Amino acid sequence: MKAVEVKDLNVFIGEAHVLKDVSFELDHPSVLVIVGPNGAGKTTLLKTILGFIKRSSGIIKVFNTDPEKDPGRIRNLVSYMPQIHNIDPFIPLKVREIVSTPVFFGESDPDLVDKALQITGLEEYADRYFYELSGGLRQRVLVARALAKKADLLIFDEPLSMVDIGSREHIIDLLMNIVRKESISMIVASHDVSHCIKYDPYILLLNKTVIGFGKAREVFTLENLAKIYGAATLNGKIFFMGEEHGSSVR
Ligand SMILES: Nc1ncnc2c1ncn2[C@@H]1O[C@H](COP(=O)(O)OP(=O)(O)OP(=O)(O)O)[C@@H](O)[C@H]1O
Ligand SMILES: [Mg+2]
Repeated sequence: MKAVEVKDLNVFIGEAHVLKDVSFELDHPSVLVIVGPNGAGKTTLLKTILGFIKRSSGIIKVFNTDPEKDPGRIRNLVSYMPQIHNIDPFIPLKVREIVSTPVFFGESDPDLVDKALQITGLEEYADRYFYELSGGLRQRVLVARALAKKADLLIFDEPLSMVDIGSREHIIDLLMNIVRKESISMIVASHDVSHCIKYDPYILLLNKTVIGFGKAREVFTLENLAKIYGAATLNGKIFFMGEEHGSSVR
């Protein structure tokens, strides 16, 4: 079974050709990290997979369902953390209330709410107001909210960009543990793959079109990195922080 199938996807936003001939398939369960520079189309791809953005051409299937044809089914099966949230910082909502409010619709599971608060290290903040929290803690609340919904596919858009490095690694470890134990698929758009590389996820290197798709060692080649970041080399070697022995790229 495939979690996601994308074939010859093209998306225009106004005149801009934001995604060009994007194709990839993700087995279920598995983990995919989407990497690419600002404006590469990562958020657009995630929103198109969720059916929020209409594609111009191509095929998308999420658990064999076209998100444009049956968005209800997709939103039952998928949980999502957007890159930019629309929670009004002045609304007096407590952390637990936000985490208990599912991203789309339906009900959150009280056991999952507790687990999500635990994973994101928010137990002691559960009864604090969202507006009282720091930026990184607010971001953790949004991760917890996505986790508190029972789903077969978790989609996170830059989930930990504001979270400190130590907590980031800890949260990823706990997240990966759950995903593996529960056989959930996960797609994460992120500029930082360092903490999850040890779990050997699939990598989609995106810069409007697919520059590479596969395991890190196949995808993070000097040629590919130069295509997306210019001549991004460190004497011919790129080292991933957090990896035991650094990974040189070809
Ligand atoms: N609503 C919109 N109207 C016009 N252009 C848009 C809109 N949304 C996205 N774009 C354009 O689409 C392109 C891809 O944007 P997207 O947000 O998908 O990139 P991204 O890879 O997620 O970047 P980042 O790393 O900054 O999050 C950009 O050029 C952006 O300006
Ligand atoms: Mg984005």
